[in-house]
Amino acid sequence: MNDAAKEEIRERLAVEDVIGQYIELKRAGRNLKGHSPWGTDRTPSFMVSPEKGIWHDFSSNKGGDIFSFVMEMEGITFREALEKLAQQAGVELKRYSGDDKAVAERKRRLYEALELATKYFQTCLVRNKAVCKYVFYERHLNRGTVENFRIGYAPMSGNALTNFLKKRGFSAQELEDAGLVNRFGGDLFKGRMMIPLMDQGGRVIGFTGRIVDANAKDTPKYLNTPETMLYNKGRHIFGLSQARDAIRRSEFVVVVEGNMDVISSHQAGVREAVATAGTAMTENHLKAFSRMTNDIRLAYDGDEAGVRAAERAIAMASKFGIYLSVIDDYHGCKDADELIQKDAKLWQEAVQSYRPALEWILEQYEAKYNLKTEKGFQEYAKEAKRLIDGIDASDTVLREKYERMVSKRLGISLEAFRAKKVRQEVKRLKKGAAVVKNTTSEISRAEKNLAALVTCGKAKVEDGLVLGDLERAELELIFEEQYASWSAEEQQREAEVLCRTVTKERLAQRRQELSVRIREAEENHDDELLNQLMAEMNELIREK
Ligand code: UTP
Ligand code: MN
Repeated sequence: MNDAAKEEIRERLAVEDVIGQYIELKRAGRNLKGHSPWGTDRTPSFMVSPEKGIWHDFSSNKGGDIFSFVMEMEGITFREALEKLAQQAGVELKRYSGDDKAVAERKRRLYEALELATKYFQTCLVRNKAVCKYVFYERHLNRGTVENFRIGYAPMSGNALTNFLKKRGFSAQELEDAGLVNRFGGDLFKGRMMIPLMDQGGRVIGFTGRIVDANAKDTPKYLNTPETMLYNKGRHIFGLSQARDAIRRSEFVVVVEGNMDVISSHQAGVREAVATAGTAMTENHLKAFSRMTNDIRLAYDGDEAGVRAAERAIAMASKFGIYLSVIDDYHGCKDADELIQKDAKLWQEAVQSYRPALEWILEQYEAKYNLKTEKGFQEYAKEAKRLIDGIDASDTVLREKYERMVSKRLGISLEAFRAKKVRQEVKRLKKGAAVVKNTTSEISRAEKNLAALVTCGKAKVEDGLVLGDLERAELELIFEEQYASWSAEEQQREAEVLCRTVTKERLAQRRQELSVRIREAEENHDDELLNQLMAEMNELIREK
């Protein structure tokens, strides 16, 4: 009976987030790893596969999904784990009572109600001259666009939609479940231009409605369907069903702020545009994008909220190997839609003149802090450093680029800027010394996985990377556990990621060793040796 509920919860909760509440996880290629909560592993032996939604603990040889993990971890029954996770996921279990067939049937009914509602709204639009004027002449949407996005109108009078759907045999409960009614059971949307929210396959799962009457008061400009069995705000990507082909073809996606920006953009020929609800981009959204392309262009406002949203996105993107950039030339317009109204060509050009997100943010900081004052200088330096430290350590070219940019802006030498960093690096390594030391004699997980892929799978690595000596049986286990079902290309891609990780780990190891020597030199007040070691460290930080 619980399969549909399980399915829904699994859809909504990322395995790494659930497990991450109990165990510290670090990314290792496609998977994440951490220390076993049950075993006494010295190196992390607990693996999580976000893509497969599963975990496996090599030290205790247990494994499963989020439900079994919470059961094991908390010592509770399946039912209890289900309730706990349902709450986290915002899934109402009572909606799923009854067997799977009943739930599937319930969903089917909701799709049907929403499809009928869409058609109803479309008809209402055609019949209302004043609203047509708004849609076609004030918002400048053309027929093709209105049809493609299935735009309609929810009438002002009575409870038109509710009555219509009830006549068609839908119950009050069904209309509530579809998110179509207000708390009195009447029409939720009144006097609004209706924009259907669709899933990837183009099925309508909800609506957003914009006020048409400019004089309307005490009501939000946009009203959206609440979360339902079909609509999940944190996952939904507006415009994706219409944009998908274009994104695949052009290999980039443009993320704008508003749904109307998406619609105008498509009309202006930039069909790679989508929107998340406002600027609230989640990891789920980023993951969904990264499955289609790694070139993500944010077209957010340059206001405070836009900068913060971009910062959040940068922090998340570093985990997914995404190239994040920003489109910010709106020629003085407030958003994409306005720019398109001015001249569609300007928008077409804007999406091609994107800039690295990091560069853009640094510029926003420059504008924010007055570098001529001591305080502004320090604040800017601090923020800039924080951003640069967030860059993947192996990406030395990128790091250097921003180090140069910032030190120039600060009017200090690159070396001075870096010297600060050497000190930080040493401090950081000292703190982690005890932990890191353990791994120096061990063969890391990444290296084992890589060896498994090369020995048992189809992957090849570049010459020059010598892998440690490993037990064949262990490699076979790892391979069976993680890679057996992967295609040759997937294996190769994973191997390339692991190669980078191994290289990075080895570099970290060398830094670690060096920092120990630096500490000794410091303690012995051997300045000459210290200088030499610091120089070496500088080299190492720059090395790929
Ligand atoms: P904006 O206020 O910038 O709206 O909000 P917009 O897209 O430019 O709308 P138009 O052009 O005036 O029609 C940006 C986004 O924030 C969400 C909507 O998704 C909107 O597209 N929003 C805004 C709401 O959900 N509710 C609101 O009341 C306002
Ligand atoms: Mn707008």
